[in-house]
Amino acid sequence: MTSSATDILATPPTTNKHLIRWVEKMADLCQPDNVHWIDGSQEEYEQLCDQLVKAGTFFPLNEELWPGCFYARSAPNDVARVEDRTFICSLSKDNAGPTNNWEDPFVMRRKLKQLFRGSMRGRTMYVLPFSMGPVGSPMSQIGVQLTDSAYAVVNMRIMARVGAPVFAEIDKDIKRVVPCLHSVGAPLLPGQKDVSWPCNDEKYIVHFPETREIWSYGSGYGGNALLGKKCFALRIASNIARDEGWMAEHMLILGVESPTHEKTYVAAAFPSACGKTNFAMLIPPEGFNGWKVWTVGDDIAWIKPDAAGKLRAINPEAGFFGVAPGTSAKTNPNAMTTLARNTIFTNVALTPEGGVWWEGMTEKPPKECLDWRGEKWTPAIGKSTGKPAAHPNGRFTAPASQCPSIDSEWENPEGVPISAIIFGGRRATTMPLVYQAFNWSAGVYMGATMGSETTAAAGGAVGKVRRDPMAMLPFCGYHMADYFRHWLKMQRNLSSTPRIFHVNWFRKDADGKFLWPGYSENMRVLKWIVDRVRGRALSKETPIGWTPFYDDIHWDGLDFSRTTFDALQTVDRDQWKQEVMGHEELFLALHDHLPPEMIYERELLICRL
Ligand code: GTP
Ligand code: SPV
Ligand code: MN
Repeated sequence: MTSSATDILATPPTTNKHLIRWVEKMADLCQPDNVHWIDGSQEEYEQLCDQLVKAGTFFPLNEELWPGCFYARSAPNDVARVEDRTFICSLSKDNAGPTNNWEDPFVMRRKLKQLFRGSMRGRTMYVLPFSMGPVGSPMSQIGVQLTDSAYAVVNMRIMARVGAPVFAEIDKDIKRVVPCLHSVGAPLLPGQKDVSWPCNDEKYIVHFPETREIWSYGSGYGGNALLGKKCFALRIASNIARDEGWMAEHMLILGVESPTHEKTYVAAAFPSACGKTNFAMLIPPEGFNGWKVWTVGDDIAWIKPDAAGKLRAINPEAGFFGVAPGTSAKTNPNAMTTLARNTIFTNVALTPEGGVWWEGMTEKPPKECLDWRGEKWTPAIGKSTGKPAAHPNGRFTAPASQCPSIDSEWENPEGVPISAIIFGGRRATTMPLVYQAFNWSAGVYMGATMGSETTAAAGGAVGKVRRDPMAMLPFCGYHMADYFRHWLKMQRNLSSTPRIFHVNWFRKDADGKFLWPGYSENMRVLKWIVDRVRGRALSKETPIGWTPFYDDIHWDGLDFSRTTFDALQTVDRDQWKQEVMGHEELFLALHDHLPPEMIYERELLICRL
């Protein structure tokens, strides 16, 4: 370390000895040129953005069109989460379970120490304290991310509460701090010129659940690098939640307000790139005068029983890291307003006016632009090469406070009461538009056996149906079957359980066309769910659960035929037998830990089929 790093370490903005000692130790290991303690101020943010512009990582967008916005392009091999490089290093392999990659923590620590040794040479190590959840909320958790990526710092400042108020919270010494070490793994030799997106071909996204630690190496992108998000708020938090009797879930939270100002909050778990952001920001369609949907969160929910035995949820994040492609003034106007200023765009297209564009943003593509790789793109080039202008996992990082539909209660430290839980996958066949589970354990079975087609949010093939229990397959930080058990056990601490539903916006007809218009029209399904929760709507019993009659859905403003609705709601016994075989495959893998309730529920389902 140089003397300047030592100087800064001499006056840390915290009195927490453990934290200071850890920062010293990690600086010794990673050998940064400088150590910068993040205060979280606007000036600091601007200075870091300036620096990123000078480094070529950021391009400032046209201030008239996109005020306060920046554009970034990642390396082509660093565009999404890397599930095959993500590890849960519990002491026993059995605790990680068959759905996680496991490595012996001692072996992994040795490997990581090798990788991180000198990994920050020529760079600055930022010390970034963050609170997941409002600072001081009893439901919040605190972490400190050490990172050599200024890009990660400025994104984290949008996605979480960071800086001085968090140091103050740490100094109260009430909560355990989760240490998160991050390096892009691209040290610089003296005089070596940096690249615009430093990263390493070798990536390691590692979690130590027992010691509550995160070590992330080699990637600068999204869930790999913004460690408060998936690594902490889901993989580590799911472990904390299990131990403490609450739930850390891959769920949006929204509030439905009726014309009589009755408010009903629901949480919904859809896998990555399957519609959470869109659903959370829904604007009711024609025919829903006086109805309003309010956004609490779009990706993660921490849910805990209150003293009265009712589940309450907070959104631990402060921003949205949303999928750009497909987002438009038509499909999600609230998102478009949210991202209109102070937003960071990554891996979308850059227009000659200094604006951004992505597939689906406007009906007509720009005549010419630079694609997410920085190459010239025109509609003709796109057509002949088949290459999109924006990467399918191109994202925006935008402050939640800018969302027009942000709920008045979104920062309530006690959270909001949850009346329904919705599961949903991307399924071309089999799954109806909506159905309701008979009870809590049937609902847990419904979530546990969820399937969905894979998307571009993670590396690997796109469009293959896989089991993605509760949309947590890549995010559950311990044995999946123990996680099911935890869900089942939650019921015991509740005076009333939320009703559980399953939705599928993605069922297709024989020609491969979506049967359901989706987006704002999803309000019709949401209203039925609210009506069911409130005991107002009828339903039909089917082998898989309760489904709406055509006449139970509010159709004002939409001409939707009974025939198409019936096609959407079809429960085909043969398809469902296939489906149960899929459940069986998952259950075989989880067999040693599987709670008996899952077997009983499967048997009941088979009997009804
Ligand atoms: P993560 O941020 O990866 O966790 O994803 P998310 O669940 O928030 O997904 P998001 O809302 O960003 O949706 C991703 C894709 O699904 C986009 O391409 C949307 O256009 C598409 N989508 C969202 N809602 C609907 C819908 O109701 N119908 C159809 N057909 N597509 C939808
Ligand atoms: C997801 O993949 O579910 C995301 C994006 O929300 S990332 O933060 O990259 O994980
Ligand atoms: Mn997500």
